Amino acid sequence: MTSTVFYYWFSLGWLIIAACIFMVLMFVTAPYGKFTRTGWGPLVNGTLGWVIMEAPAALLMVFFFVLSGSYSNPVAIVFLILWELHYAYRAFIYPFRLRGEKRHMTSLTVVFGVIFNCGNGYLNGFYLFSLATPYVTDWFHDPRFIIGLSVFLVGMVINHQSDSILRSLRKPGETGYKIPKGGMFNHVSSANYFGEPLEWTGFAVLTWSPGALVFLIWTAANLIPRARSQHAWYQKTFPNYPKNRKAIFPYIF
Ligand SMILES: NC(=O)c1ccc[n+]([C@@H]2O[C@H](COP(=O)([O-])OP(=O)(O)OC[C@H]3O[C@@H](n4cnc5c(N)ncnc54)[C@H](OP(=O)(O)O)[C@@H]3O)[C@@H](O)[C@H]2O)c1
Repeated sequence: MTSTVFYYWFSLGWLIIAACIFMVLMFVTAPYGKFTRTGWGPLVNGTLGWVIMEAPAALLMVFFFVLSGSYSNPVAIVFLILWELHYAYRAFIYPFRLRGEKRHMTSLTVVFGVIFNCGNGYLNGFYLFSLATPYVTDWFHDPRFIIGLSVFLVGMVINHQSDSILRSLRKPGETGYKIPKGGMFNHVSSANYFGEPLEWTGFAVLTWSPGALVFLIWTAANLIPRARSQHAWYQKTFPNYPKNRKAIFPYIF
């Protein structure tokens, strides 16, 4: 089997797994954060867990970039920078800024996170830097690049702003949960999750690549059920929870 054939079979298998994960997550909420519970393997330190989970996505993209020798291709460099704007932050900065005493996550969550990020790192990195016909600089003027980049950046701003609002709900060392307010939280319970698929929609459009599309579907399969659980949790926990808020998509769901 050639690496190209393997890639497309892997993409298909990955899509099928995403559909299964979506169905499972509609009934079983991933055991971390508000939903941490026993019975999912030993607990690991939350900061370390995030770094281990997210680092493969950041590192694999660099690996495929270096392997392909795309150093002189400006479009490839921009793709790498955009990806790393998200993943270098998520893997190596975000985990150290989290608040909440004695944060832990279950080891099974970390294992699933590593698998998810390895698969998606391969799908995107191998396609963009090795499999695709090399992008030429004209791509920077293509409407798909311009529109995709705009959507990606809006998603990133929403994701970062929402992460920051959540962080500010706790003083250093404080634990417990409050009702988040401001930004997209005025419309949805999981504003951070709203920003994330928006980013990857933008990335799928700006790269116009099958790998990024599959990754977007995976992200949605992961975050939509979790947003639904978060929304139900907020409504149950806070009797004064704003009635107009949706779970993840403003005015829709
Ligand atoms: N691409 C993907 O598929 C994917 C998957 C998962 C996450 N992510 C991204 O990773 C980031 C973090 O995700 P997450 O699932 O950990 O988000 P989360 O459950 O909303 O938690 C984010 C942080 O905010 C704290 N927090 C949440 N709600 C709070 C509240 N009401 N009051 C005070 N603190 C609160 C959490 O503390 P506790 O830990 O103590 O709950 C945690 O430190 C998000 O930006 C998300 O988009 C992406």
